[in-house]
Amino acid sequence: MNNKELTEKLELFFNRSSVRKYTSKKIDNKVFHKIIEASLQTPTSSHIQAFTIINITNSLLRKQIYNICGDQKWILDSSHFIIMCADLNKICHLSKTNINDPNISQDAYLAALLDAALVGMTISMAAEVFQIGSVMIGSVRNNISKVAHLLQLPSGVMPLFGICFGYYEKRKKPKPRLTKNLFLSENSYSTPENSHQLLDEYHKKLQKYYEESPLEHAGLRAQKNKTWLEVVTLAIKNEKRSNMGEDLKNRGFNLSSKRS
Ligand SMILES: Cc1cc2nc3c(=O)[nH]c(=O)nc-3n(C[C@H](O)[C@H](O)[C@H](O)COP(=O)(O)O)c2cc1C
Repeated sequence: MNNKELTEKLELFFNRSSVRKYTSKKIDNKVFHKIIEASLQTPTSSHIQAFTIINITNSLLRKQIYNICGDQKWILDSSHFIIMCADLNKICHLSKTNINDPNISQDAYLAALLDAALVGMTISMAAEVFQIGSVMIGSVRNNISKVAHLLQLPSGVMPLFGICFGYYEKRKKPKPRLTKNLFLSENSYSTPENSHQLLDEYHKKLQKYYEESPLEHAGLRAQKNKTWLEVVTLAIKNEKRSNMGEDLKNRGFNLSSKRS
């Protein structure tokens, strides 16, 4: 395969965008399981495989999670809806280790969080191979204890985000990102000298995108008259999730040192 053909394979990535509007066509369960199987080859820190995927097939349960997530319509409309969890319970259960064992390293918690996030992304891209769109749902973290209760999660399992899947009628234009220069540096951390100019250019590009693209998300519509920087500055101060340290601790993810 030549370079041009290889680069064409990247189109799947360049064209990716979150899909929140689905056709009524259901995803065949065999296809769904194939996507999940493919995702299991995702790299995993120290090969610990510390994640769990919960497929929500019960409609009442889906409705309850939809409510926790602020009534995001696509949770109900999607063909399939899963919850990605970081999971140290499985290993502890199999190895008969107490989840509160002080010898469990803090890094293991981080590795589990990473594992679940990476597998989630693989699932999403594996779905793209079948022309199935998806959107991730971080709002499951709006009420972690309630989600944990509904899903009967043991200690050591932390729900991180959901993913909705379904077929789409028409692919949305990909949403512009900040320029590569603001992400990629060489050998040491650096911020381009013209970063504010790059930001201004990005704001203009994004504004144009918002004018041309339908916004399915009420949250996004509310953001339409704000700049990207204003929106993300508010996002990192999300009040609903201000207690994440405590939430993690309650799930058995004690990131402060337990070793004496
Ligand atoms: C961890 C995570 C959580 C997200 N949570 C939500 C969500 O709750 N609802 C939603 O509609 N989109 C959610 N998104 C999708 C983002 O809004 C979307 O990826 C971002 O706006 C960029 O748009 P794009 O994916 O179409 O390129 C989430 C994305 C990620 C990675």
